[in-house]
Amino acid sequence: MPDGQPLKLGVLVSGNGSNLQAIIERIEAGGINARIACVVSNTPEAFALTRAARHAIPAIIHENCGYANRREYDAALVEILRARGVELVILAGFMRILSEVMVQAFPNAIMNIHPALLPAFAGLHAQKQALDYGVRFSGCTVHLVDCGTDTGPIILQAVVPVEQDDSEESLSARIQREEHRIFPEAVRLFCDGKIRVEGRQVRILP
Ligand code: GAR
Repeated sequence: MPDGQPLKLGVLVSGNGSNLQAIIERIEAGGINARIACVVSNTPEAFALTRAARHAIPAIIHENCGYANRREYDAALVEILRARGVELVILAGFMRILSEVMVQAFPNAIMNIHPALLPAFAGLHAQKQALDYGVRFSGCTVHLVDCGTDTGPIILQAVVPVEQDDSEESLSARIQREEHRIFPEAVRLFCDGKIRVEGRQVRILP
């Protein structure tokens, strides 16, 4: 897979884009052999768009209005990404569930970050789910995307403690510090050809 050329990434966002920022900084520091070909947001309000502009990365707003269903939206998204030669799709806080149209277009080449230790607390509001359940530890998971919700093969995880007086905000902030470390690292492993998928296991090559 790696032939020395930087891998072309497409980063999908919906919000603040702090994970996008962490990946940009790791690339700019020479730590990942990749180039962000485009950032795509499903909303014009995402601060991630401003971050992309600051680093001269092409940014596209792809809203869901005008599409009859998720599959049609995703078919247009595939076109956008293919037109820019994207080889790895990164979901960096992209708050939409992908249909099989996207998953089949980029098999084992879509990566997501989830703010919990999967398979615990999949879906929305993972930090609140963890607090409500009363776990002592939570964390974050980088995984490949399959057709389920947060069910794909796990690449990296990081653990953080849950404190007695944590709010959703304080727990989220602790988790995000780890996200900004392991997400760029997972992207680096992929770009270096160090990830091999065997069923639902991900083997990280030495
Ligand atoms: C991250 O904490 C990420 O784990 C979460 O959205 C946040 C985006 O932050 N993703 C999900 O909950 C996906 N189910 P960011 O926009 O600052 O990178």
